[in-house]
Amino acid sequence: MFVLGLQGSPRIKGNTHILLSTFLAEAERLGAHTHRLDVAHKNISPCQECGTCEKEGYCPIDDDMQQVYPLLRRADIIVMATPIFFYGPTAQLKALIDRSQTLWARRYMHKLIDPGQKWRHGFLLSIGATQGENLFDGLSLTAKYFFDAAGASFNGSLTYRQIEAPGEIAKHPTALTDVKNKAVNLVTPLLNRKKILFVCKENACRSQMASAFAQDYTGDKIEVESAGSAPAQELNPLMEEVMREKGIDMAFRKPKSIEGAAGYGRPESIISMGCEEACPQFPGVTKQDWNLPDPSGKSIDFMRQIRDDIEARIRMMKI
Ligand SMILES: Cc1cc2nc3c(=O)[nH]c(=O)nc-3n(C[C@H](O)[C@H](O)[C@H](O)COP(=O)(O)O)c2cc1C
Repeated sequence: MFVLGLQGSPRIKGNTHILLSTFLAEAERLGAHTHRLDVAHKNISPCQECGTCEKEGYCPIDDDMQQVYPLLRRADIIVMATPIFFYGPTAQLKALIDRSQTLWARRYMHKLIDPGQKWRHGFLLSIGATQGENLFDGLSLTAKYFFDAAGASFNGSLTYRQIEAPGEIAKHPTALTDVKNKAVNLVTPLLNRKKILFVCKENACRSQMASAFAQDYTGDKIEVESAGSAPAQELNPLMEEVMREKGIDMAFRKPKSIEGAAGYGRPESIISMGCEEACPQFPGVTKQDWNLPDPSGKSIDFMRQIRDDIEARIRMMKI
């Protein structure tokens, strides 16, 4: 269970930082993994409107945003936190938001489904110095459309007026408690999901397909992870192609090792695609072997057969 916090203020230890860190600390305390991205200290250029994402599905600008796409796709909860700068988010956060046009294009122009999109939540934290009635209106609309592009449902916001000096939010009578309560409220149901680890040899085809189908069909009931006993460098392009035929977007995923996946917590169940003796043994963890042949290096038709077999097994899976 992974919570990504986007911290939009350039002021480290400022008000936004305090609010977001309070949310993330509470999520960690409950058992979630978290990551705070100080967006203002990243190298993220604004969108150049070159149209490559709309035509090709990727952004050609080679900067830190390339590491943000996988984080957005991995997140179960995205918390966007920003001070109000001229009735909107900070320019640094707005650059990140505009670059999520790539995710928008993959979803709406390339018609691809991100397997996490049905279950991912988005939440907004914000602060402004004045007391204007419409202070958060523009930001809320921006957040709504950003979360939609990032494949997250907009689960509301906590916003605070008349907070200006650095650290002033810590003296607010309810803010930190409100934020902790919201973290409990959003994180707990996701932590209660059953954790399943899909494994194969390279984590480039079979276990990736299984985890994507499982996430798409039952991501509300199970927390899915996948790994390989000898992970490849990249996903298998034929696998990505056959998943695209089903409308499923495998972009921004990377093969990972079993140790890497175990870092996200002990699974309750392991489903092996057929890596036999190299498969991990976790004492006390139930294990199934689907015994599927490795499609790597075989024809696209063979890859399609394995894909369909995996999809059918996931559909029949009892949770
Ligand atoms: C460039 C700039 C623009 C701002 N624009 C607004 C604004 O339009 N409305 C407002 O209420 N506060 C505005 N503020 C004040 C900040 O939102 C406020 O001080 C906030 O507490 C800063 O949060 P931080 O400590 O997380 O950076 C602005 C501040 C800066 C530096």
